[in-house]
Amino acid sequence: MTAKQKDLSFPNVFIGNPECNNMTNYKTKYGQYVLITGASSGIGEAFAYKLASLNSDLILVARREDRLLTIKKEIQRKHSVDVILIPLDLTEENFIEIIKEKTKGLEIGMLINNAGFGSTGNYVDIESDYEEKMIKLNCIAPSILTHHFVHQMKERKKGAIIFLGSVVSFISVPFMTTYSATKAFNTFLADGLWYELKKFNVDVLSVNPGGTDTEFQRISKISGGPFVRKPEDVVVTALKTLGKKVAVIDGLMNKLNVFISKFLPRKLVLSLSGKVSEKLLKTGKYEN
Ligand SMILES: NC(=O)c1ccc[n+]([C@@H]2O[C@H](COP(=O)([O-])OP(=O)(O)OC[C@H]3O[C@@H](n4cnc5c(N)ncnc54)[C@H](OP(=O)(O)O)[C@@H]3O)[C@@H](O)[C@H]2O)c1
Repeated sequence: MTAKQKDLSFPNVFIGNPECNNMTNYKTKYGQYVLITGASSGIGEAFAYKLASLNSDLILVARREDRLLTIKKEIQRKHSVDVILIPLDLTEENFIEIIKEKTKGLEIGMLINNAGFGSTGNYVDIESDYEEKMIKLNCIAPSILTHHFVHQMKERKKGAIIFLGSVVSFISVPFMTTYSATKAFNTFLADGLWYELKKFNVDVLSVNPGGTDTEFQRISKISGGPFVRKPEDVVVTALKTLGKKVAVIDGLMNKLNVFISKFLPRKLVLSLSGKVSEKLLKTGKYEN
């Protein structure tokens, strides 16, 4: 067992954290299973540990089966919950058929659309195949999954859907242009669905992190920035806000940045974020 896994099985950020006390039993409130995409690392993994500690049964989706198996073992060492694994690439054409088959007859109380990655560089130079894959994972997969599971939530008159947006949903970052657009898609999808689904008693939330210490930085070649947060922080922010707000930004400095940008002209905000982003690109900071 790695140090990281050990930490997460008894995450200090959760135990004794007053923000986490009295957190809802989501199994009772929304339904038996939570389906988490991108559960093999980072924020998705942290959601899995936290929700298992709150008694929810889990369905974990990601490509790396070995990582999912380790997480399942670790969770079941501590908690008496069911953990179903679906090793799957969510950019594959037929992915929803596999999800439908593996979840047939199960009550999905909560869907966490978390899997995602980013890209950096000059838009004109980035391979369009790479961007297409990112759009499939970051936008098409959450949209298709939500379409599928929303029907049973509507019929049961209970459920919850969480989307992973980002601070870049509010302040587009040049040289991370398509990634910013994919995250805005999630935040906007959550906004509209929050209104449409409230009559069916389905809670919808977008959680919008800034730099968070996960594998994302390495894979997407994006720097975490000076105020980097832990994945467990993002999970606490999301769960304590679910059912109360439409969208939440994780972390005070991230909230402040987005707040200030609302009072500035759009061109100025884009020029500032573009200059910073261009500098990071030129100095190789995106390649950390
Ligand atoms: N970290 C940040 O700074 C940050 C900031 C704002 C927003 N976010 C958002 O937070 C979400 C989670 O990211 P993270 O930071 O936790 O990054 P992460 O540690 O890299 O986790 C990404 C997860 O997505 C899964 N995934 C990647 N490609 C997949 C595919 N084709 N099919 C199925 N699963 C796939 C990965 O698992 P496998 O490789 O095993 O498939 C992994 O479990 C993303 O939507 C990201 O945009 C992150």
